[in-house]
Amino acid sequence: MDSSKVLIVGSTGYIGTWITKACLASSRHQTFLLTGPTTHASIHKLPLLLSYKQEGATLVEASLDDHESLVSLLSGIDYVISAIAENQIEQQLKLVRAIKQVGTIKRFLPSEYGVDPDFMEHSIAPGSVLFEQKRKVRRAIEESGIPHTYVIAHCFAGYFLSGLASFGRFWPPAAKVQIYGDGNHKVVWMVEEDIGKYVVKAMDDVRTLNRTIYVRPPSNIKSQMEVVNLWEALSGKTLQKEHITEQQWLQNIQDENLPWELRHAFSIFYHIFFEGVIMSFPINHDNEASSLYPEESVHNVNIWLNTLRLEATLKMIKTDFFAKNSLRCHQNS
Ligand SMILES: NC(=O)c1ccc[n+]([C@@H]2O[C@H](COP(=O)([O-])OP(=O)(O)OC[C@H]3O[C@@H](n4cnc5c(N)ncnc54)[C@H](OP(=O)(O)O)[C@@H]3O)[C@@H](O)[C@H]2O)c1
Repeated sequence: MDSSKVLIVGSTGYIGTWITKACLASSRHQTFLLTGPTTHASIHKLPLLLSYKQEGATLVEASLDDHESLVSLLSGIDYVISAIAENQIEQQLKLVRAIKQVGTIKRFLPSEYGVDPDFMEHSIAPGSVLFEQKRKVRRAIEESGIPHTYVIAHCFAGYFLSGLASFGRFWPPAAKVQIYGDGNHKVVWMVEEDIGKYVVKAMDDVRTLNRTIYVRPPSNIKSQMEVVNLWEALSGKTLQKEHITEQQWLQNIQDENLPWELRHAFSIFYHIFFEGVIMSFPINHDNEASSLYPEESVHNVNIWLNTLRLEATLKMIKTDFFAKNSLRCHQNS
């Protein structure tokens, strides 16, 4: 069987790394990675790129700004997956133009993976900008007649679950946790490795052609309070709950003295945790990834939190060990 050729844009990024690993692990595809020139600023990505190369990827140095070379690169490609950065979403319009000109790409998956932008027309600034840009890219794809799939993956575990959704925390809090309102809106928490696998599965599946696919396994639908309760049961510690009101959160979003990026993230948190937008609309079974691919196992929230607990215990033991040994060193010196 001839393997198909997949081009990934953004392979060194946060979610792009997991999509690339999943693509390389699938023997059905040849993986091509669009990379920029290695510069002083990007040299730290070299080991990752070399590890991809060892796994069989072909690195292609190209720029979205160079239309002619992009068209020539795409001429030999079957599928394009983008995981481009949030602040570069509109750059994908250049990719859309080139894909349209080539005319042979079987599927394009633009950089999405969060909340469905078509359900975010009411969203508040500054987070609304991201959804507007993602909608703009969607409409350009559809108007160009490009075969596509949009993958909605909700809340990444590393960004949201690791800190129990406490803003700016990426490790479970030891004493106090921020709770948004009553913390009862349902959220979907997804482990990045699973998202990568579903993206690659959906890419060439006839059932997902020109559709939006939601990664919403029932085991991973939990409210923030449920996640906090699970963590407390696993860790054996009760956390102090600092309930934040909707009013307080809205004031943070509107506070122009705060950096734009922070207010942007606050507004996305607002829609997820105060409005409960993720579960505010029903979806069909045949649009849900774990129903489409029952053969794939999913890391459920309990398992992931338990891994985190073991890591946290290990970290505590290590810290304790090093603290004691450094004390001994001091005492001996
Ligand atoms: N659901 C969630 O919880 C969640 C969380 C975060 C992000 N997301 C979504 O996931 C998507 C990807 O975000 P991310 O945080 O994974 O991205 P990221 O870590 O910022 O990585 C972005 C990637 O895009 C590449 N890139 C940036 N500008 C480029 C350009 N002009 N041309 C080609 N490549 C370029 C970067 O490569 P270089 O560094 O080499 O330029 C990097 O590989 C976004 O749509 C975002 O909204 C969702």
